[in-house]
Amino acid sequence: MCGIVGAVSQRNIVPILIEGLKRLEYRGYDSCGVAVHQSGELKRARSTSRVAELNTAVDEDGIAAGTGIAHTRWATHGAPAVHNAHPHFSHGPGAEANSASAGRIALVHNGIIENHEELRAELKAKGYAFTSQTDTEVIAHLVEHLYSGDLLDAVQAALPRLKGAYAIAVFCRDEPHRVIAAREGSPLVLGVGEGENFVASDAMALAGVTDQIVYLEEGDVVDLQLGRYWISRLHAESGRFEAQQREVKTVHAHSGAAELGPYRHYMQKEIFEQPTAIANTLEAISSISPELFGDGAYRIFKEVDSVLILACGTSYYAGSTAKYWLESIAKIPTSVEIASEYRYRDSVPNPRTLVVTISQSGETADTLAALKHARAQGMEHTLTVCNVSTSAMVRECKLAYITRAGAEIGVASTKAFTTQLVGLFLLTLALAQTRGHLGDEQEAEHLKALRHLPVAVQAVLALEPQVIAWSEEFARKENALFLGRGLHYPIALEGALKLKEISYIHAEAYPAGELKHGPLALVTAEMPVVTVAPNDALLEKLKSNMQEVRARGGQLFVFADADTAIESEAGLHVIRMPEHYGALSPILHVIPLQLLAYHTACARGTDVDKPRNLAKSVTVE
Ligand code: F6R
Repeated sequence: MCGIVGAVSQRNIVPILIEGLKRLEYRGYDSCGVAVHQSGELKRARSTSRVAELNTAVDEDGIAAGTGIAHTRWATHGAPAVHNAHPHFSHGPGAEANSASAGRIALVHNGIIENHEELRAELKAKGYAFTSQTDTEVIAHLVEHLYSGDLLDAVQAALPRLKGAYAIAVFCRDEPHRVIAAREGSPLVLGVGEGENFVASDAMALAGVTDQIVYLEEGDVVDLQLGRYWISRLHAESGRFEAQQREVKTVHAHSGAAELGPYRHYMQKEIFEQPTAIANTLEAISSISPELFGDGAYRIFKEVDSVLILACGTSYYAGSTAKYWLESIAKIPTSVEIASEYRYRDSVPNPRTLVVTISQSGETADTLAALKHARAQGMEHTLTVCNVSTSAMVRECKLAYITRAGAEIGVASTKAFTTQLVGLFLLTLALAQTRGHLGDEQEAEHLKALRHLPVAVQAVLALEPQVIAWSEEFARKENALFLGRGLHYPIALEGALKLKEISYIHAEAYPAGELKHGPLALVTAEMPVVTVAPNDALLEKLKSNMQEVRARGGQLFVFADADTAIESEAGLHVIRMPEHYGALSPILHVIPLQLLAYHTACARGTDVDKPRNLAKSVTVE
């Protein structure tokens, strides 16, 4: 998703901007660009290929300066094309061409400006010429229109006109050592250096440049100059921008620049890192207690009478799995909502609900907005299961469980998902304990199973060659059906999501008992039907559902636990899972589905780590 880096320094900051973009690259983007203040004018380079190519263009054009901004763009308004890539320039009204070395205002933007059409019409009427289809160019022209010698004044005058979510960074030809940045709904950090200052959409982009980070808050505007910065925000009562003090934190942001090692793709590497990621996530756990989730958790857990889980995509499926655990083990009523639906829905708030957000990145706009919506309705007991300790999600929630999956580079989430499940299982046990449903013996048993998980996952990874054999056949299909029951139904959903997002094969998942209510009509010899078949209480029911598929000539591909007595025969292909794993079985069963999606995508030759149209961290609505 879009990324921003900006700097004001005495030294040439172009290598810092390019390196910052590289660190944000894994999030997904379709174009990139950089603009600097050089020899009294604005210069820029933009590209629809990789940041490495942008770097070559920058070198060839001799772009080097102490003040500049850079951007990776994930298209929302306007196709991925050079003319839509940021930074956008404004030349003032009446100017014709958007040439590479002209202009007065340069601007980059993350987010979406909802009233861009209205502003565009207004600015066009004032004589501004538009060279892109983006909502961003509107802001550049608006700032230019309001500029009368002081960039901060112009930006502060422009911001109240914008509706939507944004993080912006902007500089002006007439003020060489100054960048103004602002945020409302999209993340932005200030990096404080010695005699130089930086801005970025994620502290990770500034790793190795400065570890002195200010997390800007909603509505903050920051004025970056060489030896100083100044933060302000609009005061509702006075109607003026007033100075704000923000804590400078020492943040050891990892660079995200992991080596591939022996793997072909980050996704494959991350699938194989799951035993370590799970072991790391469990490292500090010697017993179950609410305090694993932060100070004050016991009091909150005692007070709550229900759980509301808010998340998107794969994280939503982690939440859907946890619902089964929370209701059966902790006996607490649980609902799971897709964040983008919940935030706009009339629901019945319950102040005694524990609101749990799940997010790998901790920056997903829909999940953050859903959290805000829950809080606005008086639901103050908030907890997040998140992989990034410095993220907005962790800062916004009272309690947190930080998974230790490490940086996930592949767009398709794998190790983040399984570590989320571990965090959610621990939450289940802590709530069960607080509510009197977890005796010492059960706690010891669950802890033993959790500690053995890394070994159990390793054994499942050894199935890779068998999965590769299946993937050849899947690669020739255009549709696939996934079936599961009970707490493995969300695993079937996750398997279908993995397959569709990286191989582009259309895949759907159903609770197996639903087949006969409609989807059975799709089943032919051409339809592979992947079935998640653990040896649990629903196995016999699942076998009957499998018969329904066989009777219609469907091809079954079954991941069956060791002792299920499901044997391969014509039209029924079986890969045997090493062991049945009780309540934690979903964590094992998702792994062959990740491998199936991965190898099918490889066989189809797709860009596995950066699937088309998708971004790693979805910071726009
Ligand atoms: C799919 C995937 C996405 C994310 C979703 C939420 O493989 O990765 O569906 O799970 O965009 O992202 P986070 O967890 O960062 O909130």
